[in-house]
Amino acid sequence: FQRKVLAGRRVVVTAGPTFEALDPIRGITNHSSGKMGFAIARAAREAGAQVTLVAGPVSLATPRGVARVNVKSAREMLAATQAAVPDADVFVATAAVADWRPVAEADQKIKKDGSGAAPTVAFAENPDILATVAQGERARNGALFCVGFAAESHDLVAHAKAKRERKGIPLLVGNIGPLTFGQDDNQLLLVDAQGVRELPRASKLVLARQLVAEIAARMAASH
Ligand code: C5P
Repeated sequence: FQRKVLAGRRVVVTAGPTFEALDPIRGITNHSSGKMGFAIARAAREAGAQVTLVAGPVSLATPRGVARVNVKSAREMLAATQAAVPDADVFVATAAVADWRPVAEADQKIKKDGSGAAPTVAFAENPDILATVAQGERARNGALFCVGFAAESHDLVAHAKAKRERKGIPLLVGNIGPLTFGQDDNQLLLVDAQGVRELPRASKLVLARQLVAEIAARMAASH
């Protein structure tokens, strides 16, 4: 039993990888399973929030009572997120957004031409969805509480602190390594203006419920 600590609140969550197309068949993606983001969407709904889950390509069931928007690319994810945040109170970015996309998507499958020469791919940088939303007016005036995630291979605490400042967000959550995609459990580091706190290893759903409680407490304290 959990108190409805987010009753009447609107929460937007991004989850999963993005898929950046090269041609109609192929593309670039990553190993994000979406499990942490889906668990947060579920926990926020259980806590009474209206939840929009902007999901990259993952094979996970939509949590009960959650409104899901499926997207593929980072740019689609940005558009769907920007459509959802104007009346939201909380934005949690768990998605593993591709940093770069192929500059152009071929409209037909890229074929071998028999010469043995491999194609080269030019990349363009993708938008940073979290930084874009965090720089928006509602986040800056405190009406939208933004939470980011960080997965690092080394120096997590230092990187997490720097990332929180760089993205201009009140709360940054670090995945305490090793990087284990698709696992059902996790271990988190909460970094805010006060300092650093650890949430010990537990299932992603248990951690999501704890994180939702932490977010609700911070929002209550700032009003
Ligand atoms: O900078 P880095 O990718 O490590 O930051 C991770 C955090 O930023 C995560 O919360 C992720 O969802 C978010 N992010 C984003 N858009 C990007 C890159 C990261 O929203 N293009």
